[in-house]
Amino acid sequence: MSDQRNFFVGGNWKMNGSKASIDGILQFLNEAKIPANTDVVCGPPTAYLSYVKERIQAGVQVSAQNCYKVAKGAFTGETSPAMLKDLRIGWVILGHSERRHVFGESDELIGEKVKHALDEGVKVIACVGETLGERESGLTEEVVFKQTKAIASNVSDWSSVVIAYEPVWAIGTGKTATPEQAQEVHLRLRAWLSDNVSPSVAASTRIIYGGSVNAKNCQDLATKPDVDGFLVGGASLKPDFITIINAKG
Ligand code: PGA
Repeated sequence: MSDQRNFFVGGNWKMNGSKASIDGILQFLNEAKIPANTDVVCGPPTAYLSYVKERIQAGVQVSAQNCYKVAKGAFTGETSPAMLKDLRIGWVILGHSERRHVFGESDELIGEKVKHALDEGVKVIACVGETLGERESGLTEEVVFKQTKAIASNVSDWSSVVIAYEPVWAIGTGKTATPEQAQEVHLRLRAWLSDNVSPSVAASTRIIYGGSVNAKNCQDLATKPDVDGFLVGGASLKPDFITIINAKG
């Protein structure tokens, strides 16, 4: 992490929780002191966005896990950035590997969603990452650059974007990328941003790591110069999340 980039820790709750279990999460989250150099954003399921927003401490921002590419209309089951703004939800996760692989979202659709969310003033945590097969075939860079390009060509305001590098093989598997593996891809992503967007965007954009981050491995990962934070799934539902928030401290 550089001085230019605040540490950023996102919690992706995925499709987990009930009012009762969320009350438990809010209890430890609301007791936590958020370090001054760290941005913390939690992503509850859509159904609980308001419930969480109304109860969470001011130091923690709230994110949706997905949204659609237009403001309103006949799109059953979808949520628009305008609705998120109406609920004072400032962030949305887009391009998560589960959206790509379980729901078949293409690079093109993800790019359109990124554009519309930013146009509406909702900040974006944009996810990229290769599968195990792609890594083993030596395609990591190619895949990650292609996904990043589809996102980057839809971004005008980079201060509203965080890139999450989440290797698919590390998500929910307990198989974390080593700090060296994460750093290697983050460094290349930053070089890609420098070459394809601008050196100043490369220097100021947070690139966070996701995939089986936990209370034990977060500190080692956080020592790497191009790891600017984390997107945390399973461990964001537990008090371990507070340890992760403090990984840089
Ligand atoms: P995990 O999920 O921490 O449970 O591996 C990360 C993510 O999907 O964002």
